[in-house]
Amino acid sequence: MAKRTTLAREMEFPPATEQPNVFPLSWRKGTEKMEEIWTASQREVWDPALLSWDTFDPESYTWEEREAIAYWWTLLSVFDASAPPVFAGALIKTYEVHEEDAVRRCFFSVTRDEQNHEQMCGMAITRLLGWDDPLTYEPKTELGELAQRNAKWLYFNGGRYWEGYKQAVPKYSLAVLFSSFLMGEIAAATIFHQMAEGAREPVFEEAFTHIGRDEGRHMAICMSLMERDYPQLDVSDRELITKQIRAGYLFLSAVLYEPPADFWDLPADFVDVQRRCEAVARDAGFHIPDVDAKRENWRQAILNLKAVLDTYDIPFPAIPEVGVTGQEVNDIDLEDIIPVF
Ligand SMILES: [Fe+2]
Ligand SMILES: [Fe+2]
Repeated sequence: MAKRTTLAREMEFPPATEQPNVFPLSWRKGTEKMEEIWTASQREVWDPALLSWDTFDPESYTWEEREAIAYWWTLLSVFDASAPPVFAGALIKTYEVHEEDAVRRCFFSVTRDEQNHEQMCGMAITRLLGWDDPLTYEPKTELGELAQRNAKWLYFNGGRYWEGYKQAVPKYSLAVLFSSFLMGEIAAATIFHQMAEGAREPVFEEAFTHIGRDEGRHMAICMSLMERDYPQLDVSDRELITKQIRAGYLFLSAVLYEPPADFWDLPADFVDVQRRCEAVARDAGFHIPDVDAKRENWRQAILNLKAVLDTYDIPFPAIPEVGVTGQEVNDIDLEDIIPVF
């Protein structure tokens, strides 16, 4: 049995707590912008359960349409369902490193937002399929069959980064960890805005409006962190950031553009099946930007990030897929990914 400590009988005050410990007992003010973002997140909080679900009738769609639209939500959920644990990990880190009070709150808000996104995916999928799990659902059509096989491969690939992420969190600073975050958030904010605009179902329009707004705030959090920390960046961190950006591109392309074949381990007809699902969903009034619009959206987000990194002299990786030149980065593995969305 462990010996009971009796320090309190021997000393008037306890010894100093070894630092950094898991939590600060202070509410240090710092970046004003973070305070503004937190206030906005409180004002803009939403509940996916309270959207106008009563106007949504899955039975007004054919089974093929239902499965195609559910496929898109499943694709999104491969990213958004992993985001709550990812950001919960980052939130703990903000306490461990005794971040500013407002930074801790901002990471808390991202964790909450991402869980809303994940819940929204679940609610849409469950109603569309009449089943709460797209991987064990029994497909009703040939396209539904293929879509499910695609989903299984996405899920397999998406699960491969978690161990790497857990190892990366204690090793790197927040600014390095979330360097590719900005690019994903810029592109996500745009794509959700487009999807809200084109949506025929009120419930989807509402959801995409909220999700797009949330991603815009996440983008601002990332930007403030960069503006605060990049001017003091260690030289060795620069190389890592360049690599992270390339990794972020490869990873997020699966949802924001199309998955690069040399990185994602997918069946040969994966993209073809995805395009077929998207075409059916689009015809059913579920707006998804076409491949050219996605590429342009992605390119703009990348150029935006490049402009930010240029101001801090951080070399940008080459992304020839969307016509962006820069430093060659090869050797990227799914294990290197720091997933953020
Ligand atoms: Fe999200
Ligand atoms: Fe996000």
